[in-house]
Amino acid sequence: MIQMPWKEDEHPFLIADGIARFRDPSDAGLPAAPSLAVIARTLPLSPLPVTFRARPVFGRTKDAMGERRVVRMPSGEGTSLYGTGEVAGSLLRNGARTVCWNTDSFEYSEANQSLYQSHPWVLAVREDGSSFGVLADTTCRCEIDLSTDIRFSVPGDAPPFAVYVIERDTPQQVVAALGDLTGTMPMPPRWALGYQQSRWSYEPASRALEVAREFRARRVPCDVIWLDIDYMDGFRCFTFDPHKFSDPRGLNRELHGLGFKSVWMIDPGIKVDPAYNAYQQGREGDHFLKDHRGEEYHGKVWPGECAFPDFTRETTRRWWGELYREFLDTGIDGVWNDMNEPAVFDNDEKQMPENNVHRADPGLGGPGTHARYHNVYGMLMVRATREGIARLRPNLRPFVLTRSNFIGGQRYAATWTGDNKSTWEHLAWSIPMALNLGLSGQPFVGPDIGGFAGEADPVLFARWMGIGALLPFARGHTIKDSKPHEPWAFGEECENTCRLALERRSRLLPYLYTLFHEASRWGVPIVRPVFFADPADPKLRAVDDCFLLGPDVLVRCRVNEKEPCTSPMPGGFWRSFDPSPRPDGSSDPDLPDLFFRGGSIVPLGPVLQHDGERPLDPLTLIVTPDGRGQARGSLYEDAGDGHAHEDGFFRQTSFFAFQEEDHITLQPQKPFGRLHAPEREVEVVVLLDRGRVVRTKGREGRNIVVPIRA
Ligand code: NOJ
Repeated sequence: MIQMPWKEDEHPFLIADGIARFRDPSDAGLPAAPSLAVIARTLPLSPLPVTFRARPVFGRTKDAMGERRVVRMPSGEGTSLYGTGEVAGSLLRNGARTVCWNTDSFEYSEANQSLYQSHPWVLAVREDGSSFGVLADTTCRCEIDLSTDIRFSVPGDAPPFAVYVIERDTPQQVVAALGDLTGTMPMPPRWALGYQQSRWSYEPASRALEVAREFRARRVPCDVIWLDIDYMDGFRCFTFDPHKFSDPRGLNRELHGLGFKSVWMIDPGIKVDPAYNAYQQGREGDHFLKDHRGEEYHGKVWPGECAFPDFTRETTRRWWGELYREFLDTGIDGVWNDMNEPAVFDNDEKQMPENNVHRADPGLGGPGTHARYHNVYGMLMVRATREGIARLRPNLRPFVLTRSNFIGGQRYAATWTGDNKSTWEHLAWSIPMALNLGLSGQPFVGPDIGGFAGEADPVLFARWMGIGALLPFARGHTIKDSKPHEPWAFGEECENTCRLALERRSRLLPYLYTLFHEASRWGVPIVRPVFFADPADPKLRAVDDCFLLGPDVLVRCRVNEKEPCTSPMPGGFWRSFDPSPRPDGSSDPDLPDLFFRGGSIVPLGPVLQHDGERPLDPLTLIVTPDGRGQARGSLYEDAGDGHAHEDGFFRQTSFFAFQEEDHITLQPQKPFGRLHAPEREVEVVVLLDRGRVVRTKGREGRNIVVPIRA
């Protein structure tokens, strides 16, 4: 390998406290190719002196991949590396190589260096627990090599790019700063936090209804039924099969009547068919991507030859958004954008030619090849979808799920981890995948519960449901023609475990919604690696089978068929408690063990079959006093949909409990926000030493005294 002289940017810009932008010094004063796609807010640039512990060095190199632009960032001895977006394998990324190039990776494994999304971002946690992060601001195919130090490289003919370095005291602060830089997830509608049931495909419409009714009959909580591509007329997006789905409005009405929402799929490929409205409009409006000769590009997907909207143009995004008008009029609640890497079936790589031409708006960097815009295609598609839905339904919160995305894409859509397999290995990966996506700015994430390809067995399915029910996005999904994968499809024992898993999720919803709010405000992930509990503890750096749900609940999982979880516990004390025990009071051994942090108060609700049930009572507060007998917690509530919360119509309640001799007092704090609630019944559950649990009931807003005499 020939290394050219390395250079350091002499004039980095400090753009916010602890965030600096470094430019390639060979860039001859030109603005570094801005990836406006990445930056949510334009932060004021000021050429302030930067005193960062580590600075990136820019250079060029020639290796097996040819000439490349390279940025190297020394990471230091004992530093643990995370992030890099959607990656299969362990949480700890030291030694890994990831290639940011969005790819339809069916049945992926650790060997796949490119999955569906691109996050050219690394979070580094030094030995002492202090932390920094590095973001390569390029949309081009970018290799992240963590074999020694942190090294980003792009092809030599790619435009120069800037690097953002975040230097903060803790990894939590670095991830929050990433949220300042790339934006945060807007609050989703509350129903999207519920369990969701999908398969490829529920068809005809009567089958979707049958599944919905079964959930209610069996009292397994569920909020959403998903409709995959087979509802379409010949895979034409925005149409309905005249036989199998002749009355989508009726189907949605019936689902709503049962308390379900519905999410329907839309792909980017528009069938080339002069008699098809979306194609006609796209052609007339000149909205489709061109090949290198300037002709409309065609590639094969499900419907055969397709044209692809060029989402790099505002006018095309507006047109696309408007296509949802009649579609949503049928009562559809949310949209699932799939295949948007974009995937085409014309070659083994499932990629369109890199010399295709995007006529991008100047704000995005102007016209350029697909090589430059490939990685943001999915993100710009979901931006178009989200913005369209928001215009069509200004009073509701859009819900969009996407397979492909780019760093910053949390502003537009939630994500699932693509076509995994029904294997123990994939179950195990689903935890670190969700964690690393959260550490890369995307908090609203989860796997296909049960696995997409192949078939689960009762034990695997039950375990997966137990874990998946505690991840931010909880949806069961399975491939076409697999045997049924609904919670009851694997026999009674598995069904009972699934019911308890989903009752647990339902009980945790007040806490979960509070965490979603924190994520939307501050950019902190919802599920967090265990080392967040003590970033300086070296034992916690590589825990793959446990995670923190927010700061206060530790989830320990069994991801192997037989072996127990042996991962280290974080320091401090954590009390075991099961909010959804079996009727005899014992815990289901197939569900993860939950531990509550000493010093915390975690709000729980009653079991609901779906969000629409919403009784306000009782509010349960799980109080785990710390060594001084104190505990604190908070609860965020709002209408669950719409935008009134942005005008202050929310309620943020803080709780404080303290011990005096033989009792604990829960003291009401004055809630914050304009939303008033009727006084609720509150059940206080105090977790004490030696597994002792003491419960008392009271009213919200009054002192509640809990005797704890042994
Ligand atoms: C690929 C997606 O990853 C999968 O979830 C979906 O079921 C199929 N496309 C069919 O739409």
